[in-house]
Amino acid sequence: GIPKYVKIVEVGPRDGLQNEKNTVPTSVKVELIHRLVSCGLSVVEATSFVSPKWVPQLSDAKDVMKAVRELEGARLPVLTPNMKGFEAAIAAGAKEVAVFASASESFSKSNINCTIEESLKRYRAVTDAAKKLSIPVRGYVSCVIGCPVEGPIPTSRVAYVAKELYEMGCFEISLGDTIGVGTPGTVVPMLEAVMSVVPANKLAVHFHDTYGQSLPNILISLQMGISTVDSSVAGLGGCPYAKGATGNVATEDVVYMLHGLGVKTNVDLTKLMLTGDFISKQLGRPSNSKTALALSRT
Ligand code: HMG
Ligand code: MG
Repeated sequence: GIPKYVKIVEVGPRDGLQNEKNTVPTSVKVELIHRLVSCGLSVVEATSFVSPKWVPQLSDAKDVMKAVRELEGARLPVLTPNMKGFEAAIAAGAKEVAVFASASESFSKSNINCTIEESLKRYRAVTDAAKKLSIPVRGYVSCVIGCPVEGPIPTSRVAYVAKELYEMGCFEISLGDTIGVGTPGTVVPMLEAVMSVVPANKLAVHFHDTYGQSLPNILISLQMGISTVDSSVAGLGGCPYAKGATGNVATEDVVYMLHGLGVKTNVDLTKLMLTGDFISKQLGRPSNSKTALALSRT
């Protein structure tokens, strides 16, 4: 059966806004995070402490974090690609971080400018430092189905990177279909391979709607015992280093499906829809959520 409760990890302020052409003012980012927390979301990824040359959209990470650090009711993790980012995140008040590796060698190079092995070495330094401060670390694996350069990625590669992240101390491993090419046909064998080395209750799934496959992929993942799902309000996002990748699955669409299945999320769908409306208006474009569109018509 499927889980009674699903934890949603809202990644809009980070994975969403990192890919926007227009720079969103810091105050809007801060208001977005506040609104998302008030929707009942228990985890809201706030920003990234990455190089401002690589992701200029999030160059205000320190100011965003300082403005939300005292916010209660949700965990607010931030991405940290190395020790420099980790130290800056902690100094700004982050209480949880995430590291991000790739199952594709080419994507690792274009996203974080190093090999998979080099990245794992950097992340061991981050997880070691985090342990000393009792800071939980989430681990991402990107390109778990396919890579824009290499094409299909062997499931054994995904399992290897997931296992390494788990063994260095990541409390949860998020499996990202970064370019959104997966279907249940490819997601099931990938999850089987990963679940043979990392327990299902330590895994999260992270889908993109490039081919409209996110919801079936999430449903099949739930049936396989996964109970943590990443999504992005209004379907914001994509990835600056994955050409053609469209937004993350919209949180509104995930919540609508989960509530339809009788699965608890603690998320207020009406408030969420209004939050998606707020950020879409700020960005000057329509929401990517079908549920938001449907609800706004009724
Ligand atoms: P690099 O150029 O190889 O870094 O970048 P470096 O160590 O050679 O340093 C170059 C400069 O960057 C130096 O500054 C460093 O101080 C600075 P300079 O001396 O030239 O003035 N620097 C930093 N500045 C701020 N914060 C830092 C930092 N580190 C070095 N943390 C690096 C390597 C990893 C830093 C760079 O490639 C980078 O920031 N990449 C991040 C890209 C990114 O955020 N991509 C999106 C992530 S999304 C993803 O991975 C997928 C996911 O969303 C799941 C999915 O959707 O499927 C998770
Ligand atoms: Mg994503």
